Amino acid sequence: MCGGGEPLWGWGPRVPSPLLLLSLLSTAPLGLLGEETRQVSLEVIPGWPGLPQNLLHIRAVGTNSTLHYVWSSLGPPAVVLVATNTPNSVLNVNWSRLLSPEPDGGLMVLPEDSIQFSSALIFTRLLEFDNTNMFDAAAETPGKPYPPYSLAEFSWNNITGSLDPATLSATFQGRPVNDPTGAFANGSLAFKVQAFSRSGRPAQPPRLLHTSDTCQLEVALVGASPRGNHSLFGLEVVTVGQSPDCPSMQEQHSIDDEYAPAVFQLDQLLWGSLPSGFVQWRPVAFSQKQGSRESALPCQASPLHPILAYSLPQSPIVQAFFGSQNNFCSFNLTFGASTGPGYWDQHYLSWSMLLGVGSPPMDALSPLILGIMAVALGAPGLMLLGGGLVLLLHHKQCSEYQSIN
Ligand SMILES: *[C@@H]1O[C@H](CO)[C@@H](O)[C@H](O)[C@H]1NC(C)=O
Ligand SMILES: *[C@@H]1O[C@H](CO)[C@@H](O)[C@H](O)[C@H]1NC(C)=O
Ligand SMILES: *[C@@H]1O[C@H](CO)[C@@H](O)[C@H](O)[C@H]1NC(C)=O
Ligand SMILES: *[C@@H]1O[C@H](CO)[C@@H](O)[C@H](O)[C@H]1NC(C)=O
Ligand SMILES: *[C@@H]1O[C@H](CO)[C@@H](O)[C@H](O)[C@H]1NC(C)=O
Ligand SMILES: *[C@@H]1O[C@H](CO)[C@@H](O)[C@H](O)[C@H]1NC(C)=O
Repeated sequence: MCGGGEPLWGWGPRVPSPLLLLSLLSTAPLGLLGEETRQVSLEVIPGWPGLPQNLLHIRAVGTNSTLHYVWSSLGPPAVVLVATNTPNSVLNVNWSRLLSPEPDGGLMVLPEDSIQFSSALIFTRLLEFDNTNMFDAAAETPGKPYPPYSLAEFSWNNITGSLDPATLSATFQGRPVNDPTGAFANGSLAFKVQAFSRSGRPAQPPRLLHTSDTCQLEVALVGASPRGNHSLFGLEVVTVGQSPDCPSMQEQHSIDDEYAPAVFQLDQLLWGSLPSGFVQWRPVAFSQKQGSRESALPCQASPLHPILAYSLPQSPIVQAFFGSQNNFCSFNLTFGASTGPGYWDQHYLSWSMLLGVGSPPMDALSPLILGIMAVALGAPGLMLLGGGLVLLLHHKQCSEYQSIN
């Protein structure tokens, strides 16, 4: 599904292959690492008076590296991510250049030679498909496309009001500038951006495991009138890179669905070799604010294709940072299927992803699954486990005793 491989979406129980189990066991300890914390700050970079504030700088400082995430709704919503090998790198914005027809050099991370990796994502269009007569659930196409909404032709809010330093989050909320049918009269598209100073998991599904190297984006379409009774929505995403090759799409499979009910897959996009960037998501979207199994929709991703710059709306921040010589690739995400819950239920749709640099966070097996496996391993396994516990407790008692002395 997402990624175009064999479908892994479904509610039924699944039998993992021994290979999958083995690979999960061997990768499990990795998830326990990555305890590094960062000093994370969010800053709205003041623009010109009269224009809505629309440039958000997330700076995440570690012991000898700094990550910069620059999100903006100048043009289509976009993010530039830059990793440097110093705790002292800074973002430099020249507004007069950034807002000019040739923004090259309007956005810089200094010192330039500290940059280890840089890339960007642009969210170009909101797609809508008429899924009315798609009775074949396995159909490859989501239906007949309606004219897409260009996100470059949206007007976006002033993000200052939504900036929350406590949760390290801010929201870009927009609606079409021209809306002749009034589809967005009561609706909006929101991009909620959140950073993290340590690793963890949000309370809301799909509960992606994050680290301080990552940033989460939740896209929510709320209250907009669909053009059909059975509309499926989608998002066109463009990746930016210096290599002519598109980032590679990967699927990770898991037997463990404790954090994202009945979703046994994690999709990721990787830009070349390390240190490199990644995008990670579970192939699930939700049709209610309280994401649950009942409101879960499948999310499908098309393969990535190179795309020519002239066919894209210009993203000033991307051109300001990368100049005009770039390689763009695009892919489509579509949310929902002809059966099951959909946007039509409550006029609500949300989907989340993580963006980061370095090794993507990997789920270890959850305690629940480890417990089930211990039972499955039977008495000898339990005895081994028990023996380990006794040793552990014994050791703890000893150390407590020593500390009292
Ligand atoms: C970060 O700095 C420490 C101490 O100077 C050094 O030991 C470590 O190798 C550095 N890490 C990286 C990734 O450069
Ligand atoms: C910003 O860019 C403009 C136009 O390119 C240039 O004239 C100006 O000197 C720049 N400002 C700074 C502070 O570099
Ligand atoms: C944006 O919002 C902030 C606080 O809500 C306000 O102080 C600022 O003047 C606004 N800026 C613009 C350009 O509307
Ligand atoms: C928007 O909401 C108002 C008040 O709830 C309602 O009267 C109107 O019909 C709605 N418009 C659309 C396009 O849904
Ligand atoms: C949507 O459903 C209503 C009532 O079921 C029907 O009258 C209408 O023709 C349908 N619209 C479309 C575009 O299929
Ligand atoms: C995404 O969907 C739009 C609308 O259907 C289509 O024009 C475009 O070619 C698709 N892009 C990819 C990469 O499949």
